[in-house]
Amino acid sequence: MSLPTKNKTLLIKNIGQLLQTQTGKKSLKGSEMMQLPFIPNAYLFIENGIIKDFGSMDNCPEYNIETFDAQQKILMPAWTDSHTHLVYAASRSEEFVDKIKGLTYEDIAKRGGGILNSAEKMAQISPDELYEKSAKLLQEAMTYGTGAIEIKSGYGLNLAAELKMLRVIKKLKEHFPIPVKATFLGAHAVPKKYINNKKAYIEYLINEMLPAVAQENLADYIDVFCEKNYFTAKETDLILKAGSKLGLKPKVHVNQFNSIGGVKIATQNNAISVDHLEIITDEDLKYLAKSETIATILPACSFFIDIPYAPAKKIMSYNIPLAIATDFNPGSTPTFNMNFAVSLACIKQKLTPEEAINAATINAAAALELSHEMGSISKGKKARLLLLKSYIKTYKEIPYFFAINPVEKTYFF
Ligand code: NIG
Ligand code: FE
Repeated sequence: MSLPTKNKTLLIKNIGQLLQTQTGKKSLKGSEMMQLPFIPNAYLFIENGIIKDFGSMDNCPEYNIETFDAQQKILMPAWTDSHTHLVYAASRSEEFVDKIKGLTYEDIAKRGGGILNSAEKMAQISPDELYEKSAKLLQEAMTYGTGAIEIKSGYGLNLAAELKMLRVIKKLKEHFPIPVKATFLGAHAVPKKYINNKKAYIEYLINEMLPAVAQENLADYIDVFCEKNYFTAKETDLILKAGSKLGLKPKVHVNQFNSIGGVKIATQNNAISVDHLEIITDEDLKYLAKSETIATILPACSFFIDIPYAPAKKIMSYNIPLAIATDFNPGSTPTFNMNFAVSLACIKQKLTPEEAINAATINAAAALELSHEMGSISKGKKARLLLLKSYIKTYKEIPYFFAINPVEKTYFF
């Protein structure tokens, strides 16, 4: 692994494939996703942390600056992981064993496990310990090529514990060199205290939690787990509208187990993204196609809890921009390996390597409103880059080698 480099001006030469040399587009959809432009045997010039120039080695100008020889390795934009729950107090490995023995995610939640289990653990942990644990995970996710990340609250489920999580996310933002976006997910589950009075919890969330979060400027986005036994579409609408009033744009958990109207509500509230989509109807797809909302698939979650994979090709056939994220969390997805998520999208959801890499770079950056500054090799964008290991000879081998870490070195300017 390599720590963020301090050198701000650098020439990288002899790049085997300079990958994802897109220009202009904020996100890609339809047939655009089939194209993954690259330059063989290339150079890239970084000035003050910004991509200044690039091209074929045949035309590489003479630069009198620090030079790195890539020895024909692949250089590509870093992944953006646009959906994680990276800040949590403890693993739920005990539930893992229950799952192996046959219990489903829903069975475990019904017994008081799942998100409520994580909330109990969150109540116990000190802010310092929570930060230390989270920082270690984020550091490691970066070595796997994550160059921007979204992190949700939602294991607090009361004001004090949600603030504890969000302040830890803020501290990560301040101490790490990559963009960290925070999402308030107070509506992740109904906490035990309110189990027979969900209405009162929603009122508390809207009238007390949200204003406190906004006052301290702790969140960029608002999220709701819109799902049977969690929050209905109508409740989701109320919460998203309250968040929007305070400047928090929606990114919403919808259609993980059931289609209950969340896509319609999320698109009507101008959601930046709708995430999961394992179960999606034609009506949902029509709402999405009419909107600007990005569809984010989370194949590593389907893998771990053994549920259907989102019908990604069908979603793409509606001309909807598709992004890939990990969903890293202690219950449904204990991995932050973006490369593995990209492999699964190819193997299980039949994306081509071109489509999957587009979904995890430029479209994933768009799902965090960052595609103006990252997600492709374009002049003027920030140099957040991955140099891959020498055994990755072509970009098609990025998803082909699965569950490995293809990243040799990261540049996070
Ligand atoms: O995206 N589905 C809701 N939230 C998470 C799981 C959270 C948990 O189980 O801790 C998800 O899969
Ligand atoms: Fe999630």
